[in-house]
Amino acid sequence: MTTNEIVALFNRYVMPTYGRSLAIVRGKGAKCWDADGKEYLDFGGGVAVNILGHSHPAIVRALKQQAATLIHCSNLYHSEPQGLLAKKLVELAGIEGKCFFCNSGAEANEGLYKLARKFGHDTGRYEVLTMEGSFHGRTLAGIAATGQEKVKKGFEPMPDGFRHVPFNDLDAARAAVGPKTSAILLEPVQGESGIKPATREFLMGLRQLCDEKNLLLMLDEVQCGNGRTGRFFGFQSIAPELKPDAISMAKGIGGGFPIGIIWSSGLRKVATADGEKPLCDILSPGMHASTFGGTPLACAVGLAVIATVEQKNLMAKAAARGKRLVRGLKALQKIFSCIKEVRSLGLMIGVELDREVKDTVAKCATAGLLLIPAGTHTFRLAPPLTISNAEADQALAIIEKALV
Ligand SMILES: Cc1ncc(COP(=O)(O)O)c(C=O)c1O
Repeated sequence: MTTNEIVALFNRYVMPTYGRSLAIVRGKGAKCWDADGKEYLDFGGGVAVNILGHSHPAIVRALKQQAATLIHCSNLYHSEPQGLLAKKLVELAGIEGKCFFCNSGAEANEGLYKLARKFGHDTGRYEVLTMEGSFHGRTLAGIAATGQEKVKKGFEPMPDGFRHVPFNDLDAARAAVGPKTSAILLEPVQGESGIKPATREFLMGLRQLCDEKNLLLMLDEVQCGNGRTGRFFGFQSIAPELKPDAISMAKGIGGGFPIGIIWSSGLRKVATADGEKPLCDILSPGMHASTFGGTPLACAVGLAVIATVEQKNLMAKAAARGKRLVRGLKALQKIFSCIKEVRSLGLMIGVELDREVKDTVAKCATAGLLLIPAGTHTFRLAPPLTISNAEADQALAIIEKALV
């Protein structure tokens, strides 16, 4: 089918919830092709999902092998891939704990809200403080948790139990904690609002605040996790010694195959009616569930993605390629006064312009480079961790031309 034919299908049969552009039919590595055969360098990476690029042989192999063995068996039974992936993620967190499996970032965050509610339940606490500018997904609680008015508009009234505080402002967070507060949730690097890293002082200060006030410190690593910042978790690139209580993950872990995960701490002890328990054990049978969460297929792919990231040293590569791109973008900032700021952590890079980025993103696409807006004035580079120096330089050359 041609692009026009595919677009006509969407116009007729798909709900218009996205501002879509191209029709992509095929991908290989950092490249993809549209329905009319045009080639693109994909630096949007499926919104920070395709960390191994398109059609990586390790993912294709894992999909084929596991699909031929066992795709789904329900969570009424144990399965080896889910157990092994949970073990791997606990090791990567570097803190004793356990995982729960679901299918997306928003769903993982829903699990965190429930964890916070269960944690605070016996003391009458349920409120989660989140950050202004944050993004936590599009479920009803997700938009209530998200610190951006635009996602809530038209869907009021919001579910109760979320308040927003200014990002990177510890005094404001401290002042906002109230008698109903049970947890603080934040992205170590805010993604959707323009690639904004938390400071080390903020993360460590929140830890202290949560300890003082008996709150959970919960991190949304859906976008900034998965090795993109140079370490497996974004927080580890900012404050490696931080010990969060719970983490949500999704996006890159499946390399394009849907998966969502919650990790929660075994170090954090919680007083319950049945005595003291580790936080990771407070959601007991019947309290939380997902039909598709952690299928053997999803977890086999997750294991293959993480094994490839480790074997190919892709976290160190991401950090190195990120530095190269940022060097190039900062050089462009010296030439083009429209670039206000370049913000980054590893291969999570945002370029803020003094104007809306829509036209620049469209110009880059016409020239063969896919980028993604993050907010109205920032474009985002979230390429596969596998990109070469040549691909990084090619992207920089296209961006330079688009800014002229
Ligand atoms: C930080 C963060 N949390 C949650 C989500 C929601 O993830 P999903 O779209 O998989 O539900 C996103 C998606 O962009 C995100 O960036």
